[in-house]
Amino acid sequence: MSRIKDAVDAVSRAIIEQRDYLTSLDLEIGDGDHGINMARGFTAAQEAVDEMLDTTKPGPVLDAIGRALIQNTGGAAGPLFGTAFRKAAAACDEETGLNIRSLEKLLAAAIEGIKERGRAEAGDKTILDALIPIHEVFLPENTEGKRLFEVLQEGLRSGREGVAYTKTIVAKKGRASLIGERSIGHEDPGAMSTLLLYRALYQFLKK
Ligand SMILES: Nc1ncnc2c1ncn2[C@@H]1O[C@H](COP(=O)(O)OP(=O)(O)O)[C@@H](O)[C@H]1O
Ligand SMILES: [Mg+2]
Repeated sequence: MSRIKDAVDAVSRAIIEQRDYLTSLDLEIGDGDHGINMARGFTAAQEAVDEMLDTTKPGPVLDAIGRALIQNTGGAAGPLFGTAFRKAAAACDEETGLNIRSLEKLLAAAIEGIKERGRAEAGDKTILDALIPIHEVFLPENTEGKRLFEVLQEGLRSGREGVAYTKTIVAKKGRASLIGERSIGHEDPGAMSTLLLYRALYQFLKK
């Protein structure tokens, strides 16, 4: 057992518990499989990490999660989240630890992965509209003199605002883009998953 493995369990559990909620969001503007996809993916991710002999380093664990998500999650979101985790894994080095600087780097890498793979930008009503605002609070210009927990908490607030913002905009990527203007008034399921992942990590770290 390691603390990293415990974090993976906490985060996976949060997604699996919210399966029906995430699916209900996707029913509004997509095809109603987002929660099913994510729960399947994180069940597989948890199993993959369970089988690892050494879970003390973040890089290999993040990569195992990413691979499991890509292989086991149907729909658009699986490969996107999977790529995000694999890019974050690749951004890990000997220096990576639980601090503002490392988290900033990992989040930046995850965002680049999703932008590349999904050809998406901020404001397209996707995962990015939660992830980019979360990342922003970790940037050096926004963290001067702040402690990690203060920043983690700001990230949660910023992510919530990001999800709320997705309710006001038209989807430009994925299935929801097919209904155009009718996607307004609904939160993006992938942005909500992102917030749930982050919130679960935050709550785990706070303990
Ligand atoms: N091209 C894209 N770039 C970034 N995120 C995307 C893209 N397409 C879809 N998404 C995200 O995926 C979520 C839908 O995931 P899911 O329902 O699991 O897959 P599918 O749309 O194939 O049914 C959306 O809410 C959105 O956040
Ligand atoms: Mg769907």
